[in-house]
Amino acid sequence: MSDSSYPGFHRLEPSERLGRLTADGWLDPSEADLLSRELDPALDRVSENVVSSVRLPVGLVVNLQVNGNAVLVPLATEEPSVVAACSRAARIAAQAGGVRAVRGERRVGAQVLFRTELSPAEVQEGLDAFLPAFKKAVALSHPQLAAAGGGVQAVTFEPFNGRCPGAGTFLLIIDPVDAMGANLATSIAEQFERGLSEALPGEGLGAIVTNYPLGRPATATVRIPHDLLATDGMDGRAVGERIEALSRWAGIDEKRTVTHNKGILNGIVGALAALYQDTRAATATLDAHACRKGRVAPLATWELTPDCLVGRFEGPIACGLVGGTGPHRPTTAPLLKLMRVSCVGELEEAVACVGLLQNLGALLAMATTGIMPGHRKLHERKGRENR
Ligand code: MEV
Repeated sequence: MSDSSYPGFHRLEPSERLGRLTADGWLDPSEADLLSRELDPALDRVSENVVSSVRLPVGLVVNLQVNGNAVLVPLATEEPSVVAACSRAARIAAQAGGVRAVRGERRVGAQVLFRTELSPAEVQEGLDAFLPAFKKAVALSHPQLAAAGGGVQAVTFEPFNGRCPGAGTFLLIIDPVDAMGANLATSIAEQFERGLSEALPGEGLGAIVTNYPLGRPATATVRIPHDLLATDGMDGRAVGERIEALSRWAGIDEKRTVTHNKGILNGIVGALAALYQDTRAATATLDAHACRKGRVAPLATWELTPDCLVGRFEGPIACGLVGGTGPHRPTTAPLLKLMRVSCVGELEEAVACVGLLQNLGALLAMATTGIMPGHRKLHERKGRENR
């Protein structure tokens, strides 16, 4: 067991991998059996060196009204209060007419690190000469993307100037249409890097997608009349005032902002995970958006008007309906049907609404009963069901 090198491990069947681990003393046979029983064999084709799988429950957020349509949003999460809190907030929002969401302008960026003796002006001149032919080459290598109106929109050169003389990056802005676009962007950037070395004296040192948000973010807005917020012990306006105060707190105190945003991610990551999307990319992009002004800011805010509590979420939702693993999973199509999603813009809108309502659910609980009573009640119920 002193050696963790397993050459050729990826070529084995999962049961053979577990057999090797047992033979080498990493696992008892009973432990290998537990891992084996949780294994969905189809997932061996999804990832590498697979020995088991981790199943997450997919729970449905009910009561949701998005842009006038009733939808059901799946959340893959181990935490029952996330689904319950979002459904509760969605019921209140539905009584107020539902959430209005606006999809973002989807753009994905890719970067190429370039080292050259040329001046930035000479690089720009070379880029201007190279770009038209490059765009045509991308259209030829990605005909479906080109047919759907996507592709490279612009390329800029950003010299590092004094910080690193003779080097800089090209930034490629790509319209990915229905794809999330990370693999697409990296492959286009690699194509750019190869072509560039023939067009300009210099050296490409690496090409990769950037998860930095570049397009216009999605938004979700809800206006809730005060009386809909009333609880047994508190009138609606008082609840609204407390929620507004909690929202201001998240705008002032970064220690609170991060947790406020974590609650929003409970919903967003849960929805994207249920659809097998790249939740790491989505989270990195949302975090960068939250920090765009130099410090972390709340992704959703709440303001009390004389008659309503107005909530607004703003953030990029990195997701896609073509490419990647998600579209090939058997659960994806029926879950998208429940969401009534037929294009990536509708997916963004539904996910943005879940982010906003997840935040409302958390703030509502904090402003009234506190988080733990509901949390405990749900966990006790689940505990009883497990006995
Ligand atoms: C817990 O998973 C999420 C909350 O902490 C979010 C928040 O504090 O706003 C309840």
